[in-house]
Amino acid sequence: MDAAAPHQDTDAAGAAEEALSQVVDDRAAAFARLFEAVHEGVYIGLVHAATTTTLAANPHLKLVLGYPPETFEREVRPFDVGRFADPQARVAFLERLANAGSVADYLVRLRRADNTLAWIEVTATADPPDSTGAMRIEALVRDVSERKHLEVQSRDLYYQLLQTEKMAALGQTISGVAHELNNPLATILSWAERLSEHTDGNAPLKRGLDVILSESERAARIVRNLLTFARKRQSTRALVDLNEIIRETLNLRAYEQRITNITVIPALAAGLPAVFADGHQVKQVLLNLLMNAEQAMLGANGRGTIVIRTWHDSAKQMVVMEVNDDGPGVAEDVKGKIFDPFFTTKEVGKGTGLGLTVAYAIVQEHGGRIRLESRPGAGASFFVEFPMSPVGVAAPARRMHQTPPPAAGSAAAPQRDVFKGARVLVVEDEPALASAVKESFVDAGFVVDRAGDGEEGLALVAENHYDLIVCDLKMPRVDGIRFYRAMTAATPALARRVIFVTGDVAGTDAERFLEESGCRWLSKPFRLGDLLRAAREALA
Ligand SMILES: Nc1ncnc2c1ncn2[C@@H]1O[C@H](COP(=O)(O)OP(=O)(O)OP(=O)(O)O)[C@@H](O)[C@H]1O
Ligand SMILES: [Mg+2]
Repeated sequence: MDAAAPHQDTDAAGAAEEALSQVVDDRAAAFARLFEAVHEGVYIGLVHAATTTTLAANPHLKLVLGYPPETFEREVRPFDVGRFADPQARVAFLERLANAGSVADYLVRLRRADNTLAWIEVTATADPPDSTGAMRIEALVRDVSERKHLEVQSRDLYYQLLQTEKMAALGQTISGVAHELNNPLATILSWAERLSEHTDGNAPLKRGLDVILSESERAARIVRNLLTFARKRQSTRALVDLNEIIRETLNLRAYEQRITNITVIPALAAGLPAVFADGHQVKQVLLNLLMNAEQAMLGANGRGTIVIRTWHDSAKQMVVMEVNDDGPGVAEDVKGKIFDPFFTTKEVGKGTGLGLTVAYAIVQEHGGRIRLESRPGAGASFFVEFPMSPVGVAAPARRMHQTPPPAAGSAAAPQRDVFKGARVLVVEDEPALASAVKESFVDAGFVVDRAGDGEEGLALVAENHYDLIVCDLKMPRVDGIRFYRAMTAATPALARRVIFVTGDVAGTDAERFLEESGCRWLSKPFRLGDLLRAAREALA
């Protein structure tokens, strides 16, 4: 505006001038009001390479940046070096302004007055830098932290969904494969066990058979892990104290950790709400995470520190456990795969790539969540969330008479002839497995008959007296369940003298049947020693 209007000594001119000045005053007042009231941060200032000078900062800008309303405008300096989370981002921002003269919706991470970080969108124009390199900037500033937060959340959710779908598809395939492997494995294991009892002092033969035995047990463990991942296992849930489970699990690793230079720092929240979970499975999850952290830290640094934290996330109604290590962390391109079955970066024989897969499956079954946060070189944190209340989780399964899986050393050679004269019927459609079982029972003194399925079994039971029946569940024509029902209807006395051997039954009709019948059962592959032990108990 031209400030020096010519003076004309007439009434009309004076009135016009007064009116004009009124308009100018009104506009200035309107702009001042807008500046004060607008819900957008407004900033005008000079920005140098190292410092800034604020010419104007409106109240909303103070609000966005967390300054008290009474703060002097000149003290509100959003573009100071120290306000940028990343100093390099400031350099890039100023370069862009200097080159283009303006930016629109430019995203930067700034520190608020209390040093918390905010995502800020800046729309600004800048005059070209003056001789000292200072730029005059007029900027609109908007806090978009909430929007960024939602974006991150929905991205997380998306990945979680993707992972769930991938797992479901893989689970079906794997469950089928694992089932098919159970019978041959049971056969290999049984025969190796049988033969190793008959090596007559031939040491190389015995060594070879022991290798077959231990390797087929390893394969059996892998199959068991796969089945844990692929479908619901029998699970006994109760309200448990997560901290207590963590302490017990840490005790299991304490010795190993001490001698390998691993320090564990538990930071467990007091007064944690109970979680509805299967304690053994939770232990398994934590063990898998601990082993991974130890292996990663030892591999990279030969030592390391694990911090285990728990806390209660009341907003999510979750109890959270974090397992943090100071190892090498997980590379960006690997992050998306670590929960996949058989994904491993370890040497052959060192890892099967199932630890996290199993952990994922267990947490998922508990209605919880597991996720990783890691920057390469800066360690890894696994967060496991468990729901607090029983809502949405299956009722605990009742205990069944499952003969426990083989413990180390449990397969001691059975005593010979202790069952002299007792008569057993083996109903099993896998001939190789049936004959290993038969031979082992013969050694123990039994008289053994064999049936290839339930129909043959029923015919034999009708003609002979048996003290014990060992029966497969899944067989052609008449399966184990139908055999049992027909057999007990005719010979009720034998109802508690049946031992079932079966593949994975979790979550199936067979599981309910075993639970109702109260019969002993072993899951394939089993050790012959355990089968004989079950026989002894059934006959006792
Ligand atoms: N704490 C960790 N730090 C760095 N990398 C990790 C960590 N935990 C897991 N990983 C990576 O994830 C991969 C998969 O882990 P997972 O436990 O599923 O399998 P594994 O440890 O390789 O084998 P397994 O557990 O079956 O013996 C590991 O091979 C490793 O590369
Ligand atoms: Mg592992």
